[in-house]
Amino acid sequence: MFERRTTIIRDPKVLTFEYVPQELIHREDQMKSLRMLFRPVVESGGPQSAFLIGPVGTGKTATARRFCMDVMRHASEKGIPMDYVTVNCRQNNTESSALLSMIWHFDPGYPDRGFSVSEMLRTLKRHVEKRRLRLMVVLDEVDVLIKKGADDLVYQLSRFNEEKGDPSTSLSLIMVSQEHILERLDQASISTFKRVNTVRFGRYSQRELRDIVSSRADMAMVPGTIDDDSMELIADIASEWGDARFAIEMLEKSALLAEEDGKTEIRPEIVREAKALTYSTITESKLEQLDLHRTLTLLAVTRCLKDDAYVTTGKAEKTYHIVAEEYGENPRKHTQFWNYINDLNDLGLVHTKVQGDPDGGRTTYISVPDMPSKVLRSKLEEILGR
Ligand SMILES: Nc1ncnc2c1ncn2[C@@H]1O[C@H](COP(=O)(O)OP(=O)(O)O)[C@@H](O)[C@H]1O
Ligand SMILES: [Mg+2]
Repeated sequence: MFERRTTIIRDPKVLTFEYVPQELIHREDQMKSLRMLFRPVVESGGPQSAFLIGPVGTGKTATARRFCMDVMRHASEKGIPMDYVTVNCRQNNTESSALLSMIWHFDPGYPDRGFSVSEMLRTLKRHVEKRRLRLMVVLDEVDVLIKKGADDLVYQLSRFNEEKGDPSTSLSLIMVSQEHILERLDQASISTFKRVNTVRFGRYSQRELRDIVSSRADMAMVPGTIDDDSMELIADIASEWGDARFAIEMLEKSALLAEEDGKTEIRPEIVREAKALTYSTITESKLEQLDLHRTLTLLAVTRCLKDDAYVTTGKAEKTYHIVAEEYGENPRKHTQFWNYINDLNDLGLVHTKVQGDPDGGRTTYISVPDMPSKVLRSKLEEILGR
């Protein structure tokens, strides 16, 4: 029943989430910044920290992983004791579980309970010092951890290198996050982070997405099974968000749908079908990543919309005040509300357009693309209910 017809996909793992390509196309600048920042770590052992910031699907995780893997190869050729560990802070969203996953990298038998955060920090330190390592810790989706008030762990890790004897051991941090992290930190942490080097990841253009899709298709699929128009279309659709994850998922879904239909080639019609399938999962993962007030703002928009195509920002803002109070929150100020709307627009969760009024003013209208506002509304209420 589930025998796969391998008419199109040659290597399914290349289309999975975990796959890290040898080369990240159009991320040469970011790689270069990382190499510059971390050269001293490799050469003399001093610690470094970097913040990789950008929207979903802009290659932050893949770049961080590729970079660490490349550093490891270089270090092992030169006989430099280096290592790296990646922590997904969405899956490990408390200080203890984030620390545990670092310790398990060295000692898989370490008990998962019974030790305090400071004991675990000491254990981690012992592992690093015993091996005289230059360790790189990647805290992926660190915003999730910080949102839960775990900034202290980040602070402790960044202080790891103080008061240690051996100058050749160190712990370096690569923190990966979406844009809106800094405003969430308290003053003390902000001053720590201000000194951290930021590497920015912008949304991919249509051309860039096309190159990414085409190179992934070359690696994953039987030659000649996807035409140029289909790749062009995938890039067009994904360029609305500049999101490579969406593009690769559409490529994968298109291939699976085509195989399911017994076709030997992906055509644009299949891509459109794949878009419909992919869109809802992408939207959901974006919703999960919104912070509280952006979620409340979006909920307010969906409540105003009902059956209308558009709602004015004025009306949406009034509803936002009501919604915020309903959830026991102080509504944020007008300028902040505008930021939220702009961010939601950037994420593709709402669409805004500005129109002139008869009396010479300008009004901004908000709509929700591609998903019925009722469906979106109930998803948001479910998320807020948790
Ligand atoms: N420049 C690139 N070249 C090739 N593949 C890429 C590139 N950028 C992203 N990808 C792929 O797109 C998907 C999403 O990238 P990811 O690094 O997870 O994004 P982010 O962490 O910014 O949300 C992954 O499958 C990744 O391999
Ligand atoms: Mg990521």
